[in-house]
Amino acid sequence: MKLNRRHFCKLGVGAATATVLAPYHIALASDGFLEIRAQKAEQSLYPDSPTSTLWTYNGTAPGPEIRVKQGERVKVRFINELEEPSSIHWHGIRIDNAMDGVSGLTQDAIEPGDSFEYDFVAPDAGTYWYHAHNKSWNQVGRGLYGPLIIEEPYLTFDIDHDITLVIDDWRINQNGQFDESSMGMMMDWSHGGRLGNWITVNGKSQQKLELTAGEAYRLRLINVSNARTLELDPNRFDAKVLAFDGQPLPEPIAMPYAPYLLSSAQRVDLLVIPRAGQNFALEEISGESPFPFLTFSVTGEGASSKPIPRLKTNPIPEPDLSNATVHPLLITGGAMGRFDGITYQGKPLERESMMQSKQFWAFNGVANLPEQQFFTAKRGETIVIEMVNDTAWPHAMHVHGHHFRIEEREGSTIDEGRPWKDTFLIGPSQTTKIAFVADNPGKWLLHCHMLEHAAAGMTTWFEVV
Ligand code: C2O
Ligand code: CU
Repeated sequence: MKLNRRHFCKLGVGAATATVLAPYHIALASDGFLEIRAQKAEQSLYPDSPTSTLWTYNGTAPGPEIRVKQGERVKVRFINELEEPSSIHWHGIRIDNAMDGVSGLTQDAIEPGDSFEYDFVAPDAGTYWYHAHNKSWNQVGRGLYGPLIIEEPYLTFDIDHDITLVIDDWRINQNGQFDESSMGMMMDWSHGGRLGNWITVNGKSQQKLELTAGEAYRLRLINVSNARTLELDPNRFDAKVLAFDGQPLPEPIAMPYAPYLLSSAQRVDLLVIPRAGQNFALEEISGESPFPFLTFSVTGEGASSKPIPRLKTNPIPEPDLSNATVHPLLITGGAMGRFDGITYQGKPLERESMMQSKQFWAFNGVANLPEQQFFTAKRGETIVIEMVNDTAWPHAMHVHGHHFRIEEREGSTIDEGRPWKDTFLIGPSQTTKIAFVADNPGKWLLHCHMLEHAAAGMTTWFEVV
């Protein structure tokens, strides 16, 4: 399997800022609307370096953490103070289609100066996120994202033991500022997407977080990178997996994969019980030496008598494989790939048009959102999508409005087991079958969440009627 190994910045951070992660700002939606403004703001991405102008929700990247209880309404008034149209997508939520926030499919993009009211019920507890869904490669890439936490309706981890970690991979320049000049680079679109050289957690660099030995913590990792698949090894600090992509496992388990690949848009909830005197770190391990991007210092003597909270699984319908409709999805294109038979806007994609339109990838021979849906499902029908990745690159495939199970894999070392997912990794030359019950009416996007790939062709849609 071929993933892009990282080359992170070595500007000499050393001991830099050993700030304790401040309690994360929580914006509780009551019966009123929570106002989320897309606006430019200055933020420092690298220790002791000048600020960068980011696009943010309410002045920071990530935007405010939205928390509601399972089954409650999320009510957000989105106000667009940017100079280009935008919309908000609620990633991983089995949502009312009209609220899915996909500009050009479920709604018109909200023009500068305009606003839109999102109002929906989140049926499943778990770790989700929200992000811009208009020119996502640009808007998410500049900071338009935030965590969306749907709390269990019963007692679990209290707020001091429930830690959201929004992880972003930035490409920064010599000054430690957002590298504006390489935005939209053809090379990124046709290869592995925009990969960065610096990692922030909750918008900050190289933080230190204090934990108490013996107490149980829930770490909610959210990878909001444009394209970076993070390689992690939570077994190094004896973490257990509570949930993938927001969906709790029946039992917490040791991470079965090493390295564990956390692709763009994926989430993992980890259960960590720190041991006395054993500091640890979240490290990206794809390079020659591990790159620690968040350090935990452990205080106290350990041994807590409190029971470890348990999470209940969400009510997602199990696919009925004996009664499924199978839809093949062939992925082609990309650097070192094949382009024969690819059309874009009804015309064959040739070298010249490719460079002009920046279309490099295709689903079933069509680059980018086709007028005709990939398939139509009857509500309640089990759908199997058989994806064949005939490209030289891994992809982070995301289905809107549904969670699915991976039923079968062939031809690669990537393995994610069979938990519920809303985004999964498919390796080069790999075939993967996913299955879900199409129980949510509307028009749903299916795309690669490596955002440059999505913009460069890896986007289609299906309809549930
Ligand atoms: Cu995070 Cu179209 O999705
Ligand atoms: Cu991709």
